[in-house]
Amino acid sequence: MLLYVIITLVALCLGMATSVYAFGTGGKRKKIFQDIYFSVEDVDGIGVLYTKTGEYSAMLRFENPVQKYSANIDSYYDYTKLFAAIAETLGEGYALHKQDVFVRKQFKDESNDNHEYLSESYFRYFNGREYTDAATYLTITQENKKSRLMSYDSKKWRDFLVKIKKVQDQLRDAGINAKFLTGKEASEFVDRFFAQDFRRKTVSMTGFKVDDEQISMGDRKSKVYSLIDVDTVNLPSLIRPYTNIEVNNTSMPVDLLSLVDSIPGAESVVYNQMIFVPNQKRELSLLDKKKNRHASMPTPSNLIAVEDIKKVQEVIARENKQLVYIHYNLIVTVDKDTDIQKCTNHLENAFGRMGIHISKRAYNQLELFVNSFPGNCYSTWEDYDRFLTLGDAAASLMYKETPIKSENTPLKVYYTDRQGVPVAIDITGKEGSVKFTDNSNFFCLGPSGSGKSFHMNSVVRQLREQDTDIVMVDTGDSYEGLCEYFNGTYITYSKEKPISMNPFSITDVEYKENFGEKKNFLKSLIFLIFKGNELPTKIEDTIINQVIVEYYDEYFHPFTAFTRSDKEKLRKRLLLEDKKTGEFEKYEQKLEEK
Ligand SMILES: Nc1ncnc2c1ncn2[C@@H]1O[C@H](COP(=O)(O)OP(=O)(O)OP(=O)(O)O)[C@@H](O)[C@H]1O
Ligand SMILES: [Mg+2]
Repeated sequence: MLLYVIITLVALCLGMATSVYAFGTGGKRKKIFQDIYFSVEDVDGIGVLYTKTGEYSAMLRFENPVQKYSANIDSYYDYTKLFAAIAETLGEGYALHKQDVFVRKQFKDESNDNHEYLSESYFRYFNGREYTDAATYLTITQENKKSRLMSYDSKKWRDFLVKIKKVQDQLRDAGINAKFLTGKEASEFVDRFFAQDFRRKTVSMTGFKVDDEQISMGDRKSKVYSLIDVDTVNLPSLIRPYTNIEVNNTSMPVDLLSLVDSIPGAESVVYNQMIFVPNQKRELSLLDKKKNRHASMPTPSNLIAVEDIKKVQEVIARENKQLVYIHYNLIVTVDKDTDIQKCTNHLENAFGRMGIHISKRAYNQLELFVNSFPGNCYSTWEDYDRFLTLGDAAASLMYKETPIKSENTPLKVYYTDRQGVPVAIDITGKEGSVKFTDNSNFFCLGPSGSGKSFHMNSVVRQLREQDTDIVMVDTGDSYEGLCEYFNGTYITYSKEKPISMNPFSITDVEYKENFGEKKNFLKSLIFLIFKGNELPTKIEDTIINQVIVEYYDEYFHPFTAFTRSDKEKLRKRLLLEDKKTGEFEKYEQKLEEK
């Protein structure tokens, strides 16, 4: 045990050195960091954040598993199950804090390929177009019960290491590749989070100022919106993880929280989703007490509260669900000249439509901001900032989607996504690192004038540029220009000037390399004309086969001259024939007379 204590002390000193190194020593920033963190250390390549209040945290980075606009409702439910299960794995005394970071960026072609002229123009057209990029981080924090402050418990530490790896495994089993941030990466993220700057190469943190309404920094300002106001019960009583939007008169599922990725005017948005796992027994007994208190004063509103609690208790008992506390907030950052009230109005409206009324208590901006630093979630006020709910409801309110990304494939065809920026897709489904199929055929369907030919021109151009063979059969001359551009052969025909072809014509090369296939084709053709649907008999098959073989043999090896032995054989045969008819003697006589 003594050894442990010494190691810890050394680690802490090292940690302090790292923290000063990583966070720098400048003014306000230094103060905030010093108030929050004790150290950031690497433990087997995993960056462990250690806060002043004695909490350990590790951060994972991954991509959300639900493909945006995939219309796959099951994947939204799978997500809620997964995160409710992760909260269960972690168990009492742990919190998970997910941060989805949305950043406005400008499209830049990064394929580094040497494009041909048309592709070059294509990318030039899209370069600079604004879109929102997303990244997801998950911080797992082990609570330090205040009484145990500053004591070192090796069992707790081991439990922490086991739990964080379990979470990584659980994510992997759900097909999510989650990587732990190293100490350096975690520090960098904290730096960026502090500056609310997720896109510039170097982060500047000058002019940090906070008032009741917002946080300003350099050329931008941020506002924190708490999603849940515990003063007023404001969540819908039933929620599901997705909602429907109208697209072309049909409804399509999107993330219940999809609105957070498209807040107008926002430069960046961080959606903080904290889930705290409390002691279940204690919470259940508190709930029971609360129910009894309400029941003792049977006013109408108290009776409703009693019913609500009963429902929750039933669900917990029947479905073995977990009670959790949640704190969700949004940090919206805009340019300093943008009116942030516009974002506020937008969010109030959008959440209002979902039955969620975002908190009006926004005066504690700095507190909400500081508590949202990775690893610092336990600084949120238990009474004011945390809301009791069930694990799957908490997960339903998380952001679950990932926008479509370019595929990792050598054969790329660029389409634009719903944000209007190019993404590369392997339309064959078989060349990329993920193989969807090994044989594919496509239709491009749409009403007249809807853009089928326009689209196919773009696809064909891109396929051609990547050295694929293309044969186009088309009515309407939609591809004449493209064909000419690539110096292709354009063959047109009409009723008056039909193109005819001879199926029996075979070239030298075809005969040498592929006669078997060609012969079978001709056999099928002959039998189709000869017998229709009826099958040929064995003898018919053999004869036709022989005829085709001999015909082409004759054709490709034509007669040039008889050999000497051929001639001799022929002579003997002819003589024999003449003897039979009796003419031979006559000629023999004539020959002798000569
Ligand atoms: N993505 C697009 N951007 C701009 N213009 C487009 C786009 N797609 C199609 N168009 C324009 O719309 C018109 C109709 O497109 P197109 O000829 O491709 O339709 P279509 O589906 O092939 O019609 P049809 O069935 O009659 O052949 C064209 O003038 C084309 O230039
Ligand atoms: Mg067309």
